[in-house]
Amino acid sequence: MRKMLTIALPKGRILTEASQLFKRVGLIEEEIIEGRKLVIERPEENLGIILAKPQDVPTYVKYGVTDLGIVGKDILMEANESIYELMDLKIGSCRLSLCGLEGRELPRGEMLRIATKYPDITAKYFLQKGQQVEIIKLNGSVELAPLLGLSDFIIDIVSTGKTLKENGLLELEVIFDNITSRLIANESSYHIKTKVIDAFVNKLEEGVK
Ligand code: PRP
Repeated sequence: MRKMLTIALPKGRILTEASQLFKRVGLIEEEIIEGRKLVIERPEENLGIILAKPQDVPTYVKYGVTDLGIVGKDILMEANESIYELMDLKIGSCRLSLCGLEGRELPRGEMLRIATKYPDITAKYFLQKGQQVEIIKLNGSVELAPLLGLSDFIIDIVSTGKTLKENGLLELEVIFDNITSRLIANESSYHIKTKVIDAFVNKLEEGVK
C-alpha cells in the first residue's frame, strides 16, 4: 500500500458522496461501499483506501498513515492539527449551531452546561462571549442532552434540521456556516508526492465547480 496514493475516508454519510465524486471524475471505476473491510486496495487505480471514523481521519493523516483524507471542516477545526487543507469538496454541507429546547432563551451571566462533540470550538466560542460554561463532551446523539436535563444547550451540526425538529429543539445561533468536507494532506506526503497529489486534486476540481 505504501507506493500507492493512500487516503482515509470517513465512514458514514460522507462516504457515499465522496465515492460518487471520485467515480464521476474518473479517480475510481467502482464506488466504495461501506462494509466490514477497512482497508481497500485498488492497485489498478493506484489508490489505497482506509475507512475510518470521521473524527479519526485527521489523526491518520497527521501521522502519515495515509497521504490524504476527507473530513468535515467541523472536525478539522476541532482537531486543530498541522495538516494541509487542499480543497473544499463542497459535499456534506451543514452548519454548526447553538441549539436548545423551544422556549429556552440563552441567559447571560449564569454558568451554563453545554453538551457537544466539539469541546474546543465550544470553549473558544463562549470565551469570546465572556460566558462561563461547563462543557460536557458527548460522542453522538447530542440532542438527547437538553431533552434529558444533562445540559442547558448543545453545540452541534445542523444539516436538514430534521433531528432538531423531531426532538423539539431550536437553532438559536449559527456559529459556523458553510461547513463542508475538505481534502486534507499529510505535510511530508505532500512534499514527497506533490505531482501525483496535484494531479489528484486537479481531477477532483473538475467535478467540484
Ligand atoms: C449529525 C448531528 C445531528 C444530525 C443533524 O449527527 O450531530 O445529530 O446529524 O442532521 P439533520 O439536521 O439533517 O437532522 P450524525 O448523524 O452524524 O450522528 P451522531 O449524532 O451519532 O453524531
